Amino acid sequence: MRVGVLTSGGDGPGMNAAIRAITRVGLRRNCSVFGIFGGFQGILDEQLHELNSRSVSRILHRGGTFLTTGRSEEFRTEEGQKRAAAVLDKHKIDALIAIGGDGTMRGLAALGNHWRGRLLGLPGTIDNDLYGTDYTIGFDTAINNALEALDKIRDTAEAFHRIFLVEVMGRHSGFIAVHVGIATGASAIVIPETPTKIEDLAERVIEARQRTKSSVLVVVAEGDELGNANVIAQELSERVGDKCRVSVLGYIQRGGNPTHFDRILGTRLGAFAVECLLGGRHGGMVGEMNGELVLTPFEETWSKKKPFDEWMMGLIDELSG
Ligand code: F6P
Repeated sequence: MRVGVLTSGGDGPGMNAAIRAITRVGLRRNCSVFGIFGGFQGILDEQLHELNSRSVSRILHRGGTFLTTGRSEEFRTEEGQKRAAAVLDKHKIDALIAIGGDGTMRGLAALGNHWRGRLLGLPGTIDNDLYGTDYTIGFDTAINNALEALDKIRDTAEAFHRIFLVEVMGRHSGFIAVHVGIATGASAIVIPETPTKIEDLAERVIEARQRTKSSVLVVVAEGDELGNANVIAQELSERVGDKCRVSVLGYIQRGGNPTHFDRILGTRLGAFAVECLLGGRHGGMVGEMNGELVLTPFEETWSKKKPFDEWMMGLIDELSG
């Protein structure tokens, strides 16, 4: 079997572990493996290069993606998808594995309307916002990166008894904010999944101050409907009568060496994807749910909502002290 592999959309630490596992397990099981460079656009530009075992040496511990990534406008069109199918046929590709977020799963499903080959997705995004897997590749490293930064901000916040709003990534999703907020003892977490009223947030901050907290941290997901951390800070400062400082963590969250968790997750999902293909299972995204390796139809990965841990969410107030 001739298997193509690509990464698409935002990169996530641990994607390299997945590419390595797909390549090496594929080769051991008599597949030919082709790295497609530059995401879906790489198919259109015919950037397919055959990989051998050595091609994926020394990438396991590296962040980013060795295949590079992209967000292709052309591939979003039906024309682009038809052209991609023709290129894959020209190179006699039998199966395509793409690693990425919800846009990638949508791209695979769309390609499936025009291409006869086998398609599989691997969840790779720091946002963790895909149904069909408890964790996505890159999420754990991103939250650990953010944790390290927040612990440092806590030091300076305490020194001045300051209020800090820290903005974390997550375009439409609050998973990073919730995990980081709980793990750093934030007084409030602002996420797009739940409506936030500025007056309630102000009350929370004032209450925290009244409880003589030496510093107040609020973690804001970049995609919140109230606006970004700078916008929220402006209004909050007026309401609490004190200047709220802002730190936007940005892309630093997405880089760096993957944690143990992301290396193992990428490796397991990569190897499982090859096993699925060879066993005739395809047409969906591989993932890990409750310790089990599973395959979820593409459409469910974005149409079904992945739940937060309601019990932990309920404890946020009590934990903030
Ligand atoms: O989807 C992953 C992500 O890192 C989001 O958290 C963020 O909003 C977005 O990608 C940033 O996209 P780009 O890299 O195109 O600026």
